Amino acid sequence: MKNNRLITFLMAIGLMVLVSCNQVKTDLTQTPFIPKPVSVTATGQAFKLEKTTVVYVQEGLEQTGNYLAQSLGKITGTTFDVKKSDEVPAGGIYLSLSAGKPELGNEGYELVIGKKLIEIKANQPAGCFNGIQTLLQTMPVKAAEGEIPVIATGTVTDYPEFGFRGVMLDVARHFFSVEEVKQLIDYVAAYKINILHLHLSDDQGWRIEIKSWPKLTEIGGSTEVGGSPGGFYTQEQFVELVNYALERNITIIPEIDMPGHTNAALASYAELNKDGKATQLYSGTEVGFSTLWAKKEVTYQFIDDVVREISAISPGPWFHIGGDESHVTDSLDYIMLINRAQEIVTKYGKKVIGWDEIANATPVAGATVQFWADVKNTTMGVEKGAQVIMSPAKKAYLDMQYDSTTHLGLHWAGYIEVDTAYFWDPASYVPAIAKENILGVEAPLWSETVTNIDEVEYMVFPRLPGYAEIGWTAPANRKWDEYKLRLAKHGKRFEALGIDYYKSTLVPWE
Ligand code: ACM
Repeated sequence: MKNNRLITFLMAIGLMVLVSCNQVKTDLTQTPFIPKPVSVTATGQAFKLEKTTVVYVQEGLEQTGNYLAQSLGKITGTTFDVKKSDEVPAGGIYLSLSAGKPELGNEGYELVIGKKLIEIKANQPAGCFNGIQTLLQTMPVKAAEGEIPVIATGTVTDYPEFGFRGVMLDVARHFFSVEEVKQLIDYVAAYKINILHLHLSDDQGWRIEIKSWPKLTEIGGSTEVGGSPGGFYTQEQFVELVNYALERNITIIPEIDMPGHTNAALASYAELNKDGKATQLYSGTEVGFSTLWAKKEVTYQFIDDVVREISAISPGPWFHIGGDESHVTDSLDYIMLINRAQEIVTKYGKKVIGWDEIANATPVAGATVQFWADVKNTTMGVEKGAQVIMSPAKKAYLDMQYDSTTHLGLHWAGYIEVDTAYFWDPASYVPAIAKENILGVEAPLWSETVTNIDEVEYMVFPRLPGYAEIGWTAPANRKWDEYKLRLAKHGKRFEALGIDYYKSTLVPWE
């Protein structure tokens, strides 16, 4: 009798587990989407992703369709056909630009999952790409052998809070290969990040080929923090990265820091120095000791050539001129140099971005200041007509340690645990800066202590999905206690992808 009761009890538990698993498979609202969409409704059935499922695309969405087919192929280990169709097919997956809803904007989408047909409708290819990322989160990263992924039916309607949702990688302090950068692009694209800012030059290294100034990479690219060999991207490799990113709805923003953070250039070309003598290469981690010389005309020829060559291979609208921590530049010289650099960037058809210090000069029309440290600079920038990117070091710097025991990273701006990283709002963080002046949010990863992609992964994950959500999801829909449960379910995804993430004890990992 006792045994019978035990068996009945165990069967009841088993049934409950089964019901709850099936419920997840047929209840779209249970999917732990990050970033959280504007609205999700469930219709209680399931779509089965068969090996024979076809991806149909409207004219102009071939590349987006191929990306989806490749992604599904990675999940199931099979190949999916992509076919053009101007009509909505009876079954399969259909991508189209037929949303007809202006409120979705350039990046919004509607994902309608039926029993036989999944439709992703948007105004622009970028919207379809974002809808694909949402759809992919309904499936495992890698299906088990013979498993047919089952997707709950329903509708997701979604669009972002901010059009600029970025991450920065400092490839100057330590160099990261093309393959490593592509890896990072793949990881962040899954969370609808649409900007990769590359910090391409600093005291410790110059990382992009400039054909008219070849010693920048020959000499300036030859080392990195700690004295190991460094490296650089040829222009061809940079274009490869730009295109790889664009296929994933990510715009690369090139940054050449000036007038400070320039020792790699000053060591490469003697004429850029005040005294005409090249400096020594530098592989330490101090900041604020180098400067371009604002009173020499060759400085502006140098900036012109660098901006011209990089702009020609950067299809995005922006060029980042740095401008931070120029502690040994006279303040009038700083203003003169930043103003002339802005003219050059404008001449080559790009919009200026600079760290918040550039507000001390005269921001040109369309300029953006990137808030990292100084509220006064940033509000002055807004008063002078500039837009703002929110990257407060105390909240958004991916190189800050999680806590005092983290083996990588720094803590000059504080420790940034996963909840601290999530719990802030770009639109109200600086009360004097209104939302209409804010382009968006960016989380920078400086690489003084970070040397390879595994270490990048550890600092980026699991904070990055939170930054992605801060950029995408309205503040009213963001609550840490609810978010951490969704994030907990992404741990398995990180593991399946081989992402070496920080297992914060604040998150109930599953
Ligand atoms: C910065 O962290 N120096 C922008």
